[in-house]
Amino acid sequence: MKKVLEIRYYGDPILRKRTRPVRKITQEIKDLVSQMIDTMEFHEGAGLAANQVGEDLSIFVVSEKVVGKEKGPLVVINPEIINIKGQIIMEEGCLSIPGIYAEVERAEFVDLKYVNLKGEDKVLKANGLLARVILHEYDHLKGFLFIDRVDRDTRRILIARYRKNIELEKGRIKV
Ligand code: CO
Repeated sequence: MKKVLEIRYYGDPILRKRTRPVRKITQEIKDLVSQMIDTMEFHEGAGLAANQVGEDLSIFVVSEKVVGKEKGPLVVINPEIINIKGQIIMEEGCLSIPGIYAEVERAEFVDLKYVNLKGEDKVLKANGLLARVILHEYDHLKGFLFIDRVDRDTRRILIARYRKNIELEKGRIKV
């Protein structure tokens, strides 16, 4: 049964909190992961972090559109970035700050250590879009958002645009 969870938006304090590590992969954790995948797919996101659906846990998922159908969706528990290399600029958006996008500079190559849903230790070497999504979601788990990764003037413009969008939405009649 699919279950779409409620997305937490910019301004919600849980998005600014460093998440707690998962101690044991219980049925509850498995259910949460499955609901996170449903939620990500419903919103057509490339990835989703647990605190974006209100859960203070170090878990993120990455869409099979990014990792490929045979490998995906990717479930990452208790991640740790063990190496980064290079720099690249790519456009990013976020399900928690809908409607705004920005060019963000991040590492091009990432080595990620994590635990999978079976409880196995894994190391993943990523580049391209996958590296980008990993870095974005990893940031979420530490309480950072993509707008923290742009210069101050750009950030101010993005936040103003986001707030204006919300005001415009409020004034609209939806039936
Ligand atoms: Co995001």
